[in-house]
Amino acid sequence: MLSRCVSTIIAAGFAAVLAAPAQAQGTQPGTQPTPPTPADIEAKAQMCAACHGANGTPLDPKTMPNIWGQQPYYILTQLVHYRNGMRENPVMASIAKTLQQSDLRPLAAYFAAKPWPASNAPAAPAEPPKGLTMCTPCHQANFQGGISWPRVAGLNYDYMVAAMRSFANEERTNNMDMVKIMKLFSDSERDAMARYLAALK
Ligand code: HEC
Ligand code: HEC
Repeated sequence: MLSRCVSTIIAAGFAAVLAAPAQAQGTQPGTQPTPPTPADIEAKAQMCAACHGANGTPLDPKTMPNIWGQQPYYILTQLVHYRNGMRENPVMASIAKTLQQSDLRPLAAYFAAKPWPASNAPAAPAEPPKGLTMCTPCHQANFQGGISWPRVAGLNYDYMVAAMRSFANEERTNNMDMVKIMKLFSDSERDAMARYLAALK
């Protein structure tokens, strides 16, 4: 609850700051939007750092995922999905909608190029829990992700449990493969997978 309040307050400030450059960039009908400069992207990325962290560790890691070192195409698709409502989250939707279309790729590339932050999650059990072999065709053998799949190695345990449950419940339906796969597992099986994956480097 508290973290949701914090998110909402930060998001409101963020929207106010971003609204101004949007007009200056000339988005009136008939005018070409100016492509963002590296300085524009840096300034926008500073705003993301309010929640996702200035050094890659999010302000509230249980609800705000790591985006430093995440796969670039995944970052891009999530920003698109927050903008078009395929992925529903009031905070990220309002932030993503204040961005310009032309910001999305450079912002995704900016965060993907950062190092994945070190975590202090407890060590993984030696034996991977049941079901994890089903994930590797997409998330890859080391769970670092790939062209169309997010990195899940070292994502926060609480964030991941919630993400997996929201696919299983069909609250998050922006990828129907993940919905089908998460429905195959019980809460405790998903919990064991999240614990194992959170501990991977
Ligand atoms: C007010 C806090 C806040 C700010 C500012 C913010 N985010 Fe987020 N972001 C969140 C939260 C909370 C989530 C998780 C939402 C959900 O569960 O769908 C999230 C999720 C994401 C995701 C999905 C990651 C994943 O692993 O699925 C991406 C990508 C993202 N944010 C990028 C950005 C970018 C880029 C910016 C700056 C333009 C930004 N965020 C600014 C709070 C914030
Ligand atoms: C058919 C390919 C595929 C398989 C198999 C698969 N995933 Fe995924 N997974 C994806 C894709 C694609 C996404 C991103 C979906 C989106 O756009 O939101 C994803 C997203 C996720 C996320 C959310 C990441 C985030 O940052 O929000 C988690 C957690 C996850 N998968 C875990 C698993 C686990 C655990 C398994 C195995 C039991 C698995 N996945 C199997 C393709 C797959």
